[in-house]
Amino acid sequence: PLKRLTIPAIRRQKGKTPLVMLTAYTVRTAQLLDPHCDMLLVGDSLGQVVYGLPSTVPVTLEMMAAHGAAVVRGSYHAVVVIDMPFGSYEASPEKAFESAAWLLKQTGAAAVKLEGGTAMAPTVKFLTERGIPVMGHVGLTPQAVNVLGGYGARGRTPEEAAKIVADAQSIAEAGAFALVIEGVVEPIAIEITTTIACPTIGIGASAQCDGQVLVAEDMLGMFERTAKFVKRFADIAETIASAAQTYAEDVRTRAFPGPEQVYAPKD
Ligand code: KIV
Ligand code: NA
Repeated sequence: PLKRLTIPAIRRQKGKTPLVMLTAYTVRTAQLLDPHCDMLLVGDSLGQVVYGLPSTVPVTLEMMAAHGAAVVRGSYHAVVVIDMPFGSYEASPEKAFESAAWLLKQTGAAAVKLEGGTAMAPTVKFLTERGIPVMGHVGLTPQAVNVLGGYGARGRTPEEAAKIVADAQSIAEAGAFALVIEGVVEPIAIEITTTIACPTIGIGASAQCDGQVLVAEDMLGMFERTAKFVKRFADIAETIASAAQTYAEDVRTRAFPGPEQVYAPKD
C-alpha cells in the first residue's frame, strides 16, 4: 500500500498539482475516499451532516475525537486533519494546545484545523512550535455564524477583502502548513495564494487555490440544497431513496428475504 503522506509533503505541493481534500466522518467513507485524496478532513460540519445540529457551534471535542479515530482507522494514505470545535481553542494558546494534543492522542491524526485570522496567529505559532501542525481557515468561518449573521460570501467590500488577506497572511506567517479559504471572490483567493508560503485549499474560492476541499456528502448529492460552490459528482440521495423504496416493497410482499437469505437446517 501507499505510505501515508506527510505534512512537509503537503507543504511542498504548493505550485505543483492541486491538492485534493474531502471531508470524512466515518470509517467506510474514509476507506472509499482515502486512495483518491491527499488529505481527509474530519470537519466539524459533522454537526449538521451527521447530527442534524443547526450549526457547528454545539460540536464537542468528544464528537471530533470519536469520528477522527474512525477516519484514521479507515485510511492509510491521506493526511488526516481534525477540526478543533468551537470553544476548544479560542481562549488562549495554552487551552488550544491542551485540546489539540488531546485530539491527536485520542485519534492518531497528524494535524488540526482552526478558524480565524490575526487573533489566532499566536495560537497557530504556539501549537506549531510545540509539534502540532495547524491548518488555518479564513474568509467564511462557520463557527462565527453568530457574529457574521449567516453563511454568505465574504470579502465583497474592499475593507472586508483587505481584512481577509491580512488574516490569511498572519496565519501563514505564524506557521500554518496549509490554509482553507472559504466563500470569497476569486481576486482574494489569488492575492492570498500568490502572497503566502503555504498551500491554499479553496472551498467556494475559485480554481486559483493550491487545492480544493468539499464536504463529501455535498459532492455526493446527499442533500437537496447546498451552497453555490458545491458541484454534485453523484446522486446518492436518489440511490438511497430508491433502494429503501424497493426494500419496503419487497418486505411488504414477502419477496425479501428469499431462499438465498434463509439459513438451511443442519442435516
Ligand atoms: O467542517 C468542514 O467540513 C470544513 C470544510 C468544509 C472546510 O471546515
Ligand atoms: Na469546519
